[in-house]
Amino acid sequence: MPGMRIAITGGSGFVGRAATADLQQAGHSVVQLVRQQPVPGGDVHWDPATGAIDATALGHVDAVLHLAGENVAGGRWSTARKRRIQDSRGPATERLCTALAALPRPPRVLVSASATGIYGDRGDDELDERSQPGTGFLADVARAWEAGTRPARDAGLRVVQLRLGMVLDPSGGALRKMLPPFRLGLGGRLGSGRQWTSWITLADLLRVIRFVLAPGELSGPVLAVAPEPVTNAQFTAALGRALGRPAFLPVPEFALRLLFGEMADALLLASQRCRPQELLQAGFRFEQPAIGPALQRLLAR
Ligand SMILES: NC(=O)c1ccc[n+]([C@@H]2O[C@H](COP(=O)([O-])OP(=O)(O)OC[C@H]3O[C@@H](n4cnc5c(N)ncnc54)[C@H](OP(=O)(O)O)[C@@H]3O)[C@@H](O)[C@H]2O)c1
Repeated sequence: MPGMRIAITGGSGFVGRAATADLQQAGHSVVQLVRQQPVPGGDVHWDPATGAIDATALGHVDAVLHLAGENVAGGRWSTARKRRIQDSRGPATERLCTALAALPRPPRVLVSASATGIYGDRGDDELDERSQPGTGFLADVARAWEAGTRPARDAGLRVVQLRLGMVLDPSGGALRKMLPPFRLGLGGRLGSGRQWTSWITLADLLRVIRFVLAPGELSGPVLAVAPEPVTNAQFTAALGRALGRPAFLPVPEFALRLLFGEMADALLLASQRCRPQELLQAGFRFEQPAIGPALQRLLAR
C-alpha cells in the first residue's frame, strides 16, 4: 500500500538506512526517530532511556518500524556492553511501545526487530515460529525484546516481531566483516562448521519488511530468514566459490573464544536451523532462497 507515513528507529544502521531508502522508493514517507536532539522540522526525537517521544513533531504515523539496539557484534562483550545490549532491547522497546500506545492517534502497526538468537543453540533441531525459545544471554535478550512490545499489542496495534537471521549484503553486517579474509583466501569454517546459520539477503529482508508493514493478518513472531538455512561449512564453501578463492582454513573453537570471548559461543558457534513458516504460509516468495546463487549475485562485480 503506497503512501503510508512510517516512523523508524535505528534508521542510521545497516538495515535502517536501506529500509528508509526502500520504503521511500515504494512511495511511503519515512520519519526518523533519533536519539540525538534533531534540528527542528527534520527528524523526531525519542529517548530510549525514558521512552519519551516528541509527539507534536511526530504527528500521525500509520506504522512504526523499530530496529534500534546496541550492536551485538560490535566488540567483546564487556559487562557494560552486555548491559547496553540488554537495556536497548527489552526495556527500551517496552518504553517505546508505552509511548506509542499513549499517542493521541496510535499507529496501526508495529514491526519490531528480534533475532533468531531467541532460539539459543539448538543443533540440528528444525525450528519455526512455534518452537520454544532457547537459553543463554542472547535468547534472554530477545525474549525480553519481544515481550517489550506488549503495551503496543494491548493498545490494539498489530504487532509483528520480526526474527531476523544473519542479514547478507556486502555493504554491512556480517558479510562485510567476512569479506577481507575470504578475499585473501584466508577464510574457513568456524569450529566444527556443523552449526546451522539462518540467513537472508538484505534485498529479501526489505521485501519482507514491506510485506509485513502492508495491511494484512500477520502478527506475532515472524521469522525473516531464507527457507534454506545452511551449516557454517556449507556457507563457507559457498562464499569461497562466489569469490573464486579457497576457504580451507578452519578457525578452531578455542581461537574464536580467545578472540571474541563469550560472543564466540553465542554468535559464531550457536546453531539455529530456522524455517520461515509464517512468511511461506502467507504466500511470501523469496527472490534468493538458496545460499549459492544468493552469494554469487551479491558478490558479482
Ligand atoms: N544485521 C543482522 O544480521 C541482524 C541479525 C539479527 C538481528 N538484527 C537486529 O536488527 C536490528 C537492526 O540491525 P542492524 O544490523 O541495522 O543494526 P545496526 O547497524 O547496529 O544499527 C542499529 C541502530 O540502532 C541504534 N542504536 C545503536 N545503539 C543503540 C543503543 N544503545 N540504544 C538504542 N539504539 C541504539 C542506532 O541508530 P540511531 O543512532 O539512529 O538511533 C543504530 O544505527 C538490530 O536491533 C539488530 O540486533 C540484525
